Amino acid sequence: MDTVTNTVAISCAIAVVLCAWQVVNILWVRPKKLEKYLRNQGLSGNNYRFLYGDMKEFSLMVQESKSKPLSLDDDDGVLTRVVAFTHHSLQKHGANFITWAGWEPRVTIMDPELIKEVFAKSNDFKKMKPTPVTKFIATGLLTYEGDQWAKHRKLINPAFHMEKLKNMIPAFQLSGNKMLGKWEKLVSSKGSCELDIWPDLEALTSDVISRTAFGSNYEEGLQIFELIKEQSVLVQEAVMSIYIPGSRFFPTKRNTRMNAIDKKVKHSIRGIIDNKLKAMEAGEGILLESNMKEVEEYQNKSHGMTSDEVIEECKLFYFAGQETTSSLLVWTMVLLSKHQEWQSRAREEVLNVLGDKKMELDALNHLRVVNMIFHEVLRLYPPFVGMYRKVDKDITLGGFSLPSGTQIELPIMNIHYDEKMWGHDAKKFNPDRFSEGISKATKNKVIYFPFGWGPRFCVGQNFALIEAKITLAMILQRFSFELSPSYVHAPHKLLTLQPEYGAHLIMHKL
Ligand code: HEM
Repeated sequence: MDTVTNTVAISCAIAVVLCAWQVVNILWVRPKKLEKYLRNQGLSGNNYRFLYGDMKEFSLMVQESKSKPLSLDDDDGVLTRVVAFTHHSLQKHGANFITWAGWEPRVTIMDPELIKEVFAKSNDFKKMKPTPVTKFIATGLLTYEGDQWAKHRKLINPAFHMEKLKNMIPAFQLSGNKMLGKWEKLVSSKGSCELDIWPDLEALTSDVISRTAFGSNYEEGLQIFELIKEQSVLVQEAVMSIYIPGSRFFPTKRNTRMNAIDKKVKHSIRGIIDNKLKAMEAGEGILLESNMKEVEEYQNKSHGMTSDEVIEECKLFYFAGQETTSSLLVWTMVLLSKHQEWQSRAREEVLNVLGDKKMELDALNHLRVVNMIFHEVLRLYPPFVGMYRKVDKDITLGGFSLPSGTQIELPIMNIHYDEKMWGHDAKKFNPDRFSEGISKATKNKVIYFPFGWGPRFCVGQNFALIEAKITLAMILQRFSFELSPSYVHAPHKLLTLQPEYGAHLIMHKL
């Protein structure tokens, strides 16, 4: 009996020691080894600090920078407010440096050739695996890898073909008219009024995605958007703190709310899908239509998406299709309020090209100035300010050997503001730099990537730009606008770049 007890006790002791060693290895020995390995290759950066790495400093800088609104003329201010930690690290360590996302090393890349390589080799430089927390917002095409990604991309691509987008123009106009009708009522007595346009632009892009993705109207989607918006805030709060495996099971207030929202969102989307499947003969709903075609073609459900997968893609569309385009539109309106000469040039073009004509794809393609303006807004205020990848095997990038487990940061915003890449006026709003297109402005370098680059570039780029063009054209035809004295310039990064205190403009009816 004694021998048995002793054996059990010794086995338990060994198991405890092994577990403890694993923990010490993950949280201390391995990061310190990696630090030495990366430093030996000439990468500078902060020393690894136990458990948190740079997360505490990162959170502190975010809090501090958020406490100070900016002047719209403060060219450096945007970087220090929105990407404070990367901006600070770049100044401290120079291009290509290491920071610590908890116990994982993160290498930030500023070299356009290396950025191109990371984007191009999407099988080696993989998307970060969604954590149980980020899964609440979006998985689907955005996060899949390998065959699953290829299958979904193939299924979803046709939904964004120009032919399909052409048919969506009336839906874009319908949503635009709804917003402008509201604005016209508000200005009706005096001819002008002060307005926070941000919630209206969010409602507009929600309206559009709801109509186009499901053929349903905004009222049906409203509840889903409200919930996804609340979820974005909760997820952003959660990702700012260090990720502890299993922490999602802690019965905290935030976890409980996130789970409840997820359940409700899935339930509502499933309800819409079920209804839409019944209405499929009417050809409603781009996502479902593409999926049904694939299933029919192969007479086999494994060729299409499962209903859970369709729900995930719908959730992603709600997030990716809505938050991003409203961000583009709001910063466009703010910058055109500040730069009245560009507002006038854009309006003149819209009136000349479109006049009273029906909005058609051909005519929209002739909006050159509007296009230049959007490129420049996406350079200075990209909805996603940075992108991340991770390697799951040892890999060489340029002259660097990156060990398995290294994260890569592609800091869009810092690159878009870099004077070495864009010239002395890099931080200024100057749409003219795009007068001969993106390739000329970037000298064919990967220094401009608001929609990503390579095989994983944004599938919704044309959708977003057509929607934004139609909306801006409709606004310019009916209103002129300027910043209100109550406007506070406070770009802040939730999951996308948003105006923290809204966007208060004075709208004048033309
Ligand atoms: C101004 C608007 C938009 C911007 C700036 C934007 C930006 C981006 C970026 C940067 C990526 C690449 C992410 C990465 O490589 O890590 C991406 C991917 C994606 N976007 Fe967008 N997006 C916009 C609008 C949209 C819209 C309207 C939709 C759908 C309705 C959409 C759906 C997607 C999807 C599904 C992916 C994943 C593509 C893949 O991995 O194959 N986006 N977007």
